Amino acid sequence: MEREIYDRDRAGVSDAVLLEDYTSDDVFIANLQKRFHENIIYTYIGQVLVSVNPYKELPIYSEQDIQTYRKKYFFENPPHVFATSDNAFRLLIEENRSQCILISGESGSGKTENSKKILQYIAAASGHVESVESVKDKLLQTNPILEAFGNAKTNRNNNSSRFGKYMDINFNWQGVPDGGDILNYLLEKSRIVHQNANERNFHIFYQLLSGGDEQLLEKLHLKRNFADYSYISGGDILPSTDKNLDDANNFKVVMNAMNTIEIPKEEQDELLDIVASVLHLGNITFGVGEKGHSTVYENEAVHAFANILGIEFDQVKKCLTHRTIDAHGDLVTSPLNRDQSFYARDALAKAMYARVFDWLVETINKSIHTPTSTSRVKTNHVLGVLDIYGFEVFETNTYEQLCINFCNEKLQQLFIELTLKQEQEEYLKEGIEWTPVEYFNNKIICDLIEEKHVGIISLLDEECLRPGDATDLTFLEKMNERLASHPHYIFNSSRASLVIQKLVHRDEFQLRHYAGDVKYNVDGFLDKNSDLLFRDLKEAMSASKNSIIKLLFPSSEFLLSRKRPDTAITQFKNSLNNLMQILASKEPSYIRCIKPNQLQTSDNFDFELVRHQVKYLGLMENLRVRRAGFAYRRTYDAFLERYKCLSKQTWPNFKGNPRDGVQIIANELNYGADDYRMGKTKVFIRLPQTLFMTEDAFQLKKNYVASIIQARWKGKIQRRKYLELRESVIITQSYCRRVLAKRRLAERKGAVERIRFFIKGFITRNQAPNECNAKFIQLVKQMWLIRLSKSLPNSFMNHSWPKPSAHCEEASEHLKKMHLLYLAKRYRDRLTPERKAAFDMKVLAESVFKGAKRSYPKSIPHWFINDRVVDHHQAQIKSFIKSPTFGERVIYQTSCMKYDRRGYKPRERILIIGDKSLFLIDAKTYKQKHRISLNKIPNIVLTKEGDNLLLVRIPLELKKDKGDLILDVPYIIECCTWWIKATNNINIIQITDSATFSHNMTSGKSGVIQVELGTASITTITKAKSGNLLVIAAQ
Ligand SMILES: Nc1ncnc2c1ncn2[C@@H]1O[C@H](COP(=O)(O)OP(=O)(O)OP(=O)(O)O)[C@@H](O)[C@H]1O
Ligand SMILES: [Mg+2]
Repeated sequence: MEREIYDRDRAGVSDAVLLEDYTSDDVFIANLQKRFHENIIYTYIGQVLVSVNPYKELPIYSEQDIQTYRKKYFFENPPHVFATSDNAFRLLIEENRSQCILISGESGSGKTENSKKILQYIAAASGHVESVESVKDKLLQTNPILEAFGNAKTNRNNNSSRFGKYMDINFNWQGVPDGGDILNYLLEKSRIVHQNANERNFHIFYQLLSGGDEQLLEKLHLKRNFADYSYISGGDILPSTDKNLDDANNFKVVMNAMNTIEIPKEEQDELLDIVASVLHLGNITFGVGEKGHSTVYENEAVHAFANILGIEFDQVKKCLTHRTIDAHGDLVTSPLNRDQSFYARDALAKAMYARVFDWLVETINKSIHTPTSTSRVKTNHVLGVLDIYGFEVFETNTYEQLCINFCNEKLQQLFIELTLKQEQEEYLKEGIEWTPVEYFNNKIICDLIEEKHVGIISLLDEECLRPGDATDLTFLEKMNERLASHPHYIFNSSRASLVIQKLVHRDEFQLRHYAGDVKYNVDGFLDKNSDLLFRDLKEAMSASKNSIIKLLFPSSEFLLSRKRPDTAITQFKNSLNNLMQILASKEPSYIRCIKPNQLQTSDNFDFELVRHQVKYLGLMENLRVRRAGFAYRRTYDAFLERYKCLSKQTWPNFKGNPRDGVQIIANELNYGADDYRMGKTKVFIRLPQTLFMTEDAFQLKKNYVASIIQARWKGKIQRRKYLELRESVIITQSYCRRVLAKRRLAERKGAVERIRFFIKGFITRNQAPNECNAKFIQLVKQMWLIRLSKSLPNSFMNHSWPKPSAHCEEASEHLKKMHLLYLAKRYRDRLTPERKAAFDMKVLAESVFKGAKRSYPKSIPHWFINDRVVDHHQAQIKSFIKSPTFGERVIYQTSCMKYDRRGYKPRERILIIGDKSLFLIDAKTYKQKHRISLNKIPNIVLTKEGDNLLLVRIPLELKKDKGDLILDVPYIIECCTWWIKATNNINIIQITDSATFSHNMTSGKSGVIQVELGTASITTITKAKSGNLLVIAAQ
């Protein structure tokens, strides 16, 4: 409900207790009107549901809607018949308190529709339990049958219930409907024989004629034409387009329902026989015979009637034209006149139909009874639904209206007792102070009608039973006399005021009902109350072959019973009192139905018509009582749940006692001390304004709350997405890992295989060739080659070489050689011509001196150059060379020592080898001492030791040179090599290995050179004592 409070401007308030001016019916009705135009047909007055007939199908009764109201607090959702049903259903199931829902309102206001919705809700809400599905079906299927036999088209409602109905639904221990029981009240029998203009008889007649197949109609002697039958063509016989009046189809629905209810086929047939026989009965007419006695016209109808019911034709004729009276044991038969025959015929038709209707209800009851439902008041698990006529006020009101309005007075009594009691009890239970409310107690009117001996019913019965000429008017007189002083009884008398005399006619009386004044015309009261059926008719019926008729008209009724049966109104009073007892034993819920217009259209709200109903339903009284205390009450939990966002202390969750939470909110909103009360379990708010203020504050806060909810919700969605994503990532990841692991495993397996293969190859490497060792060896070779490739010496001077494995030794040797060759070649290729010439010199030196001269190795490290003249002689030597007398190209020049041939005195000299001559220059004077043509020198002699002695043989003919030249040349190997080069004669070198050798001097003399191997690192050349030149060669 709170959800709608903020919507009050558009759709009014959903609970009339929230109306500011609760005493004005204008305001109340305007609220209903506002809602009606918004297609909101339900409104509360506290717990009472007010329902306005929408006269159109609204999308508010779906399975979805049922779920919306399922197990919700009564006020949690907008008002609805489902909320009322759920509330009653839950109190029944959860608290084991028997419930009844009382639906009232005038004809066409929607009572029956609402009662069907209740049944629909109960069937759906009680869940699906296989074993009781058939019972639920049966309960639902009672409606089409009872509506076919008990409903009719009237000017006020196309499907008007012409009987009152109370239905108990029994529940088993699981809270599932397992049976039921129906009570019916006051079927409008008069409709059988007469209908007002544009009205119809009960639906079943039209359904049979429209929906029965040819064979059936033939069997029942019927024709498919309404106009042929007087009982059903009095009012409206035009085929209606109303879907509710699709008679042919409805006939099928009814027959199916009978099967569901398990009415045996034979009984169904007999039931239709009776329906047909009533139609035929209506077509029996009478003529006037001898002495004015009535005679039956022997038409088709009489035969059909007798035939179908299996009664002797003569008996039929007789019972309709004669009357037998039991006069103190003597049976006296007298003929009837024509009018009496018609009266008897109609009485029979009414009795037959009314009794068949009762039989039908009983038969349905037998089918839907369960062991628990047979005893009506014993069980607590019962939900009763009362669909009964509301107050009726017509232009002319008669006996039926008195019964109906009496029924409503009784219900109002019950309402007063239960509702006011309930309200007061609630305050008491909640510990709230309470000033009792003033209200009109209609007990006085109930007493006026039903009080023993003095009430209207007693007076009517008295008048019916008394001997003599009692008439409707004598009954009225009696009432006028006995009830004259009653404040609620008004009648026309000479003493009455003119207004009353004008208003209430002489054959009328007026009752001042709680809902308003109603005038009744006494015409027909006695007849209807006596409800007499002539004995002959009962007798004829009891002779019928139709077992239902036979059962309904037992012979005991006219043979045994001398006592007159109770009058109709006494029976009705008794059954009402019985009903009151049943209802009083239960907790009531109320649905008050209102019809918005007389036109049965959805777009018209007749304010005055509604005002009339609001008055007759006592809704303003209801509202006043409800508002006398507190307009609004709600359990602390529910109140806190809705309004907790209004205080920081209670939002988002209040941990403490809900009562304290509500108190915090009340303080926060500055509720006045008198505006509210804190009960034991509920908060009570006195005025609607206080609640509206609270609700407005809530609506303001709602955006804030909504944003929080939205944020949380978005967060939740994102988190869900994230978790989903994460999960899929993990799955993907684990798949990848699996694939990778499998791949790694395969790799490792492969590696293991290869290693094993390798090891095997290693182990068998020295054995006969096999697959493994072949590979291994190949690999070893490869590896060695790779290793080799990385550590190859890059200079031929580097003699390192990686150690080959056994399998590569041979190759290694080859490679080593090849590489050396390669390095050498590369070295060679890179040599400059100068360097090459220098090398050639070295090679030349090697070929001559290696192994021949001890000092040769010392000459290896340095390159041969062609100038060894010490620096301080350079300039003079250069100028010597440039002098024209020199005239040669210098091949080699060096400082040296010359030993005299005599005395071996050392003299410093410069030795120059030219391209043609040998020059010896004095190192002091730089004068040429010797110039000898190279080709004249036969050879030059060297010792084999490490000395630098060079003996240049001078041919003897060159006397002026005074014999061989004894020189000490510092780079002897270098010098000699240049010499060879200059002379191009390798043989010029002579290396002597003798320890002494001679040298020539001029004049044929010779000296001796003696060579010894010394221990020092330098050579000494001295003149020995022997006179020889002693050369002690360096090591
Ligand atoms: N809630 C509703 N939704 C749609 N149509 C409805 C509703 N209530 C009533 N009606 C319409 O109004 C018609 C009369 O309703 P219903 O038969 O329930 O009235 P009633 O109060 O039982 O009348 P009566 O006293 O004559 O039996 C229905 O046939 C239906 O067309
Ligand atoms: Mg009805």
